[in-house]
Amino acid sequence: MTRATSRTVQPADTVKSDLLARSLERRATLAQNPEHTAYRLINREADGFPGLALDRFGPVLVANLYDGRPAPLDVLAAAQSWTGAEAVYVKERPAQASRLSAAQREKLAPPTPALGLARTEIDVHENGATYEIRPGAGLSVGLFLDMREVRAAVRARTQGARVLNCFAYTCAFGVAATLGGAAEAVNVDVSQSVLGWGQRNYARNGLETRREDFVFGDVFDWLVRFARRGRQFDFVIVDPPPYATTRHSRFSITRDLAGLIAKAAACVAPGGRLLVCANAAELSSAAFTQALREGLPERRHVVSQRWNEPELDFPRRPGTQPYLKVALLSL
Ligand SMILES: C[S@@+](CC[C@H](N)C(=O)[O-])C[C@H]1O[C@@H](n2cnc3c(N)ncnc32)[C@H](O)[C@@H]1O
Repeated sequence: MTRATSRTVQPADTVKSDLLARSLERRATLAQNPEHTAYRLINREADGFPGLALDRFGPVLVANLYDGRPAPLDVLAAAQSWTGAEAVYVKERPAQASRLSAAQREKLAPPTPALGLARTEIDVHENGATYEIRPGAGLSVGLFLDMREVRAAVRARTQGARVLNCFAYTCAFGVAATLGGAAEAVNVDVSQSVLGWGQRNYARNGLETRREDFVFGDVFDWLVRFARRGRQFDFVIVDPPPYATTRHSRFSITRDLAGLIAKAAACVAPGGRLLVCANAAELSSAAFTQALREGLPERRHVVSQRWNEPELDFPRRPGTQPYLKVALLSL
């Protein structure tokens, strides 16, 4: 997708037009970089569009609507025209999407685009990796864009490492680690279909896999099982959803993060690393730091790096807290 020069399609008023132009200008360096074809174009209030997040995934745009606001079709049509995108998909995001049933999700995220022609799947590029995006697949389309810098860090720090990727989703961290030269990357998720998607992501990057690289099941069970068997990893990633209920476990990030960290740490080899991610506005930075401390009461650890959402395409309104908290710990 190239930036279209014509701006004949305009939002309804000049204020929105100026805000849209400013949002695209802010991301100009990303737009010009063929290494990154997926990034955020509009980040809600911080870009002057309350309730609207607009993401670019190669030739399609995906709009996420918060706060029950209707789709601003004039802005979306202008963004489509100015960026030269083929289609715009719309997802309505309620406050706690992870608590919805599959049927409720489908209603909020229709499989066909609001504007343009449908694309079942597309490839996007990020930092030399390729990922499969399914824009009509539901509320999540295959890649969490705010983790771009963290994926780059995983790739840069996993040469020769045995990696465990918990809550793997489409295995983006597993792919990044394998591209970074990991000795192995074991991806655990409770959904078979996302693990299948993950396998396709490996194939898209020309990476060979073994059956045991994809573990179907509950992370909480598997962490206990690995620890009991004495199976250790040099780099363990935990990136849980804010809430999750499976047949075997019930997780709430505000209540249970410290316990998850403790279980994960039991699988980290001496001198290894633990990457803890929390994508949840309801968990403050202080509570996140407290969970790190509580989860590792007896194990010496150093927080070697921290991340929040990337500043360039996920700007924050002044005075607001980051929703994404990530810490890399050396144990
Ligand atoms: C926020 S996504 C993880 C994103 C992923 N780390 C990435 O970078 O793309 C959450 C994933 O956790 C999985 N999940 C939720 N609860 C789980 C559990 N108890 N055990 C295993 N997987 C779980 C879901 O199926 C989903 O794929």
